Amino acid sequence: MSHLREHAAFFREFHQRFETTGSIVPSSRFLAAAMVRPLAARAADGRAVRVLEIGPGTGAVTRAILPLLGVDDRFDLVELNAVFADHLRGDLAASAHARRLASPSIVHTVALQDFAGVEPYDYVISSLPLNNFPVETVDEVCAAYVRFLAPGGELTYFEYMFVRAVRMRLASRAERARLVHVDRTIGDLVARLGVGREAVLANVPPAFVQRLRHPSP
Ligand SMILES: C[S@@+](CC[C@H](N)C(=O)[O-])C[C@H]1O[C@@H](n2cnc3c(N)ncnc32)[C@H](O)[C@@H]1O
Repeated sequence: MSHLREHAAFFREFHQRFETTGSIVPSSRFLAAAMVRPLAARAADGRAVRVLEIGPGTGAVTRAILPLLGVDDRFDLVELNAVFADHLRGDLAASAHARRLASPSIVHTVALQDFAGVEPYDYVISSLPLNNFPVETVDEVCAAYVRFLAPGGELTYFEYMFVRAVRMRLASRAERARLVHVDRTIGDLVARLGVGREAVLANVPPAFVQRLRHPSP
């Protein structure tokens, strides 16, 4: 997909599905690079790894993941939006990086909470806009993050800077209660598994990339 078509497709979906799309424009290459840093720093021991991308949208982060994959690595994508999922399948079919993988990558058109993957992943890379979700969905997504992470595995996700804090100040009482729940749930997860955070200013809007690590066995 061309740059212009990608931005147009993203904006269209933002307009129609604000809650799940979560942003007006795709992530910048700087944010994408920060999201894939743990995968880029993988041990050079030749071991094949399993990678899960959650919420790939039009593929801004996917494009940073693909060149880092070895032939025997497994790459799955979980995308709720069927329009994005269809675009992604076309892009993967045309990608030389994707075509060199021994097992073809699968774009699962499903919500992460309903994804029936059984084997956990060494690297999970998530772009889900948790600040927009109902509290039950946030609980389910955070549980799925831990469930899909293999022992010793790393997960990265991003959050736009200070958005939750600003929205909390402006929100109605019910909306504030929802955001407090989101804040606590994410805070608990980070307190348990957090191993680092990186600020990425070169993105619209600027974002923090949070790294989580599943405890080793
Ligand atoms: C903020 S966009 C990120 C898109 C892209 N990764 C990027 O960084 O430009 C969030 C993406 O998550 C997808 N999404 C939202 N809720 C989801 C869910 N519960 N399960 C899977 N994907 C979801 C949306 O359709 C959208 O593609």
